This record gives sequence, C-alpha cells and structure tokens, in this order.
Amino acid sequence: MLTEEQYRLAASHFETPFYLYDRSAIEQACKDVMNFPNAFGLTVRYALKANPLTAFLKIAENAGLHFDASSEYEAYRCLQVGIPGEKIQLTAQQFPKKHLNIFEDGKVRFNACSLHQLEQFGKHFPGREVSIRINPGVGSGGNRQTNVGGPSSSFGIWHEQVDQVPAIAEKYDLKITRIHTHIGSGTDPEVWKQVACMSLDFAVKFDSVDTLNLGGGFKVGRMSDEKTTDLQEIGEVVKAEFIRIQKETGRELKLEIEPGTYIAAVAGALVSEVDDLVDTGIDGFSFLKVNTGMDAISRPALYASRHPMVVLPKDATYETKDYVVTGHCCESGDIFTLDEDDVLAPRTLTQASIGDLVVIEGAGAYCSSMNLRNYNSFPACNEVLIDDENRLHLLRETETVEDMLARENIVDFI
Ligand SMILES: Cc1ncc(COP(=O)(O)O)c(C=O)c1O
Repeated sequence: MLTEEQYRLAASHFETPFYLYDRSAIEQACKDVMNFPNAFGLTVRYALKANPLTAFLKIAENAGLHFDASSEYEAYRCLQVGIPGEKIQLTAQQFPKKHLNIFEDGKVRFNACSLHQLEQFGKHFPGREVSIRINPGVGSGGNRQTNVGGPSSSFGIWHEQVDQVPAIAEKYDLKITRIHTHIGSGTDPEVWKQVACMSLDFAVKFDSVDTLNLGGGFKVGRMSDEKTTDLQEIGEVVKAEFIRIQKETGRELKLEIEPGTYIAAVAGALVSEVDDLVDTGIDGFSFLKVNTGMDAISRPALYASRHPMVVLPKDATYETKDYVVTGHCCESGDIFTLDEDDVLAPRTLTQASIGDLVVIEGAGAYCSSMNLRNYNSFPACNEVLIDDENRLHLLRETETVEDMLARENIVDFI
C-alpha cells in the first residue's frame, strides 16, 4: 500500500532504519473489521500486541474498536493513553497480580484463561461478571509458534475441564457472561469457521452467557502467493450459525472478534539500506546485508516468516540478482530470506549497490512490538506515520546508548 515515492520521501527526512506506517491503510483495515457480518451485535477489539503504538490505538478507537490486552501492562498502557476501561478486555497468560487495581472500578473486563485464573479473580472480585477462554481442542496458525489451540497449547481452559467452571463461579458468585476462543494467528479460514461453530456450543451451555468472542487469527497475505482471509465470506457463515442458535434456543448472542494482524500487518514497512554486499563463491550465495536486523524485526528469525522486500536503487536499473538478505546482528540466524524449512532461500531482487534503500514490507504487526530490542546494543529505530497528504509524523524516536544505559546501575563495586 505504501509507495516507492513515500519510502523515498520518508528516507529523505529520517535516517534508516525506520518503521513507516500508513495511516489510511490502518483506517481501511479498521473499517473492514467493523463491517464483519453479525446477527445480534458486534464488538471488535484491536489486539494491541500486534502494534501498541499510541497512534494505532487512537486510530482504532476513532474507528469504533475496543481493545484486547494480552498482559496487565498492555491494559495499563491503554488506560494511560486515555482509553476508557470499559473498552478494554484482558486475556493474559499471566494472572495480573501487579495491577489488580485496573479492575477496581469494574470497568476493565477480565477473560480467565485457566481455572486458577478464574479462582484468583473470584477471590479478589467476588460477584463480578467474567469471561472464560476455552481451548476447544483444535488449533491452527501460520506455524507451530502461532498455533494456540489443541493439546499442545496451554492457552485457555481445556474443553474437557469446562465442567469445573460452574463450581468456581458459584463459590465466588461470579457470573460467566462471555465465552472466548482464539486458536492461532494466521489461522486456516476453514478451521476458524469450524471452531466458531464449536464455540457456540460452549456458549449455549451457560445460561448467563450473552457474548461469544472468537479471537483474531485472520490470515493476511503478505507475499503475493498468500491469500488474505475474506472477512465477509467467513463472517456470513458464522452469522448463519448465530441465527441458527437463536432459532433453536431463543438466545441472541453478541459477537466479538479480536484482530491484530489484520489491522496492522500490511500498514507498515521497515525501511533500511544496503550496508554491504558479500558472496561465498561460485557454489555459495550472494549476501545482501542491510542496516537492520532481528533487533528490529524478529519474525523471520523466529518463524522463518516471509516478508516482501523491495530494493530501491539510487540509479534506476532493470537488472535483478538472487540474494540472501541478512540482518546486521552477529547471529547466523539473522536472515530475512529463509524458506519454511528454515533453509536459505535466495530472493530475486533488483540488483543492489551499497547505500540503496531496502524496504521490508508487511511489517506493521508483530515486528516493532516483538523485536529483540537492543541486541548488540543497536538502538530501537524511529517509527514514523505517513498520512494521506504525505505528511510525516514521528511516533517514536530512536534511542541512544545513553538511553540504554540510563536504567543500569553504575558499577562502583568492581
Ligand atoms: C487472545 C488473542 N486474541 C487476538 C489475537 C490476535 O491475533 P491476530 O493478530 O492473528 O489477529 C491474539 C494473538 O495472538 C490472541 O492471543
């Protein structure tokens, strides 16, 4: 969505590397998710783990989205930037012991992800409404690391243990009003639909439930051979199921979804430049080294995930070359061009020279937010938003080594 002109414009104002985000792409994605088909009401929560920059939160809020926080710190962060508590739901692997005060006025919602969490919430806040996350026994995701359903996942109350929930709820006078499932990021749309239907069966088992939250996981095609989920297509299937349940039981359940990737992924790019070009001989590889790496964007190293890459040469050329693109960290795993089996997969790119811009696209979600910050003491880079009039807004400033040292204790005992 961002254009070559926009990359070059931003690079004329900011030193590489920097993240560049497209305001209109975020707004368009927000519109798409707000139009998700539904029968009896819809709340869309932006999963801010994808990108928690305040600009993303504000754009999402202006478009009518609520928020899915994945840790007490994310929930607290939302509150700190002025998002009202009633728009935030916390779904976390760790019980929010250090910030229980966020629940005190009864506004921030809690989604218990285990029986222990439910018990703890009941002890601290008896009589409250609460949601439970269920692991439906089925998972799907772009890869093992992003699959969060099924027996090998610790996320949610295992479906065979859901019958233990009523006793805990009764003990603490908790009212289970919401059921939640989320089975992975980059989920197969067919599996997503299947789990949506299974989740409805859980929801109707609890008389007090009025809302079913189906999480996120909508696949986004970053590469040209990857397909983006058709939200209307899967939404209509799910809507029909909500209507079926209404006909069978009289229950008009509200729907919630929690997209992260869908909102942010294609709205961002990491703009870097060629730092070096080396090769390992005739039977080896041509390496294109960029001035960014796993300290700024860890997905390729973690998941062998693929991102579109564009070389923008200083001097126009139609020549191409196959490159293994590597990052600047002293790690042999800091590579941007791996195949699904984690093997070097040279990419055909415009022939590059040192100093040419190299743009890593599809980098708006789980990139800046999931970086290996300060590895090799590389500073976190500038993050910039471009609006539809091509105005550039610095969202987060790069840091200095002094910033990195600021919280370290001065060593005076050695
Ligand atoms: C509970 C929950 N909801 C929503 C999401 C967002 O998923 P995605 O970014 O794939 O839409 C996640 C991601 O891990 C999640 O754990």
